[in-house]
Amino acid sequence: MAIQSYEDDDYRLASPDYQPTDVDIEISLRPKTLDEYIGQKKVKDNLDVYIKAALLRSEPLDHVLLYGPPGLGKTTLAGIIANTMGTQIRITSGPAIEKPGDLAALLTNLGAGDVLFVDEIHRLSRSVEEVLYPAMEDRAIDIIIGKGPSARSIRLDLQPFTLVGATTRAGSLSAPLRDRFGMLLRLELYTPEELAQIVKRSARIMGIEIDEEGAIEIASRSRGTPRIANRLLKRARDFAQVIGSGCITLEDARQALARMEIDELGLDNIDRRILTTMIRNFNGGPVGLETIAASIGEEAVTIEDVYEPYLMQVGFLARTQRGRTVTDAAYAHLGLPLPTRQLNF
Ligand code: ADE
Repeated sequence: MAIQSYEDDDYRLASPDYQPTDVDIEISLRPKTLDEYIGQKKVKDNLDVYIKAALLRSEPLDHVLLYGPPGLGKTTLAGIIANTMGTQIRITSGPAIEKPGDLAALLTNLGAGDVLFVDEIHRLSRSVEEVLYPAMEDRAIDIIIGKGPSARSIRLDLQPFTLVGATTRAGSLSAPLRDRFGMLLRLELYTPEELAQIVKRSARIMGIEIDEEGAIEIASRSRGTPRIANRLLKRARDFAQVIGSGCITLEDARQALARMEIDELGLDNIDRRILTTMIRNFNGGPVGLETIAASIGEEAVTIEDVYEPYLMQVGFLARTQRGRTVTDAAYAHLGLPLPTRQLNF
């Protein structure tokens, strides 16, 4: 396997998307209970009631759809659901289920009360989705045997199970699929205070020393995303061990983040490239998403799902009817002069 470095185009330290190097930290750091899970208060409070009610009735939990930007802990919550219900979890994703038969195999292998977690559920193909409807509603699947005029459909009953679907874009889900979920839970970007708690908890588990200011510095540059905070924590530890005192201080965190070219607001090279390209080539906009994507060599959906939410949250990018525009605050942050804008009277 190729070793990834900060310079690789496809390895982005500040990306909320899952990277292969996250595997060890993500698994060991994942909270196993709702009590251990920090932040997302509304989602947690609701889930707590629904899980307790299902346990009281000795029923499986209703199907759950978790949606929101990547890296916020959707897989972790699915694991907590299974753990609290005392059942097993099977993890898969929309693109991994290629044929209806793949899904049928997964479903028929579930035990009573198990959780089937389908990440990126908006990417299921139509034919696979159609297998899911009766599975969710009637706990059964219809299998076609044979071909042509002699083909027959037989119904196979399934064990009661809970589908936990996750998506970054609830709007891309077909209405019939969305309607079959009993709960739609929306995850929000975390506040810096919540992220600082997560950083301190992760440091404790990994045996890393970090002081309050170091934790807050990492937290405030992690774009609201625990996955990024945990990744930056690992890199800051390297700096503290080699260059600093071993305990991550504000100074260690700042040095590590500067070397990783992550600025005070958590923007990395790609965020800055999106903004500077819009400024230099399109006078700050309005410019269409597809045009921005082509100019910087990224996919439009990636810009929309991964980069845009945070750039909009910090107030550097705005969506208008005619396309995206860079705000005055972004010019100030990048130290660039404001453009001369045409005034229409
Ligand atoms: N690690 C990643 N996300 C977390 C969360 N929400 N709470 C605690 N630890 C986490």
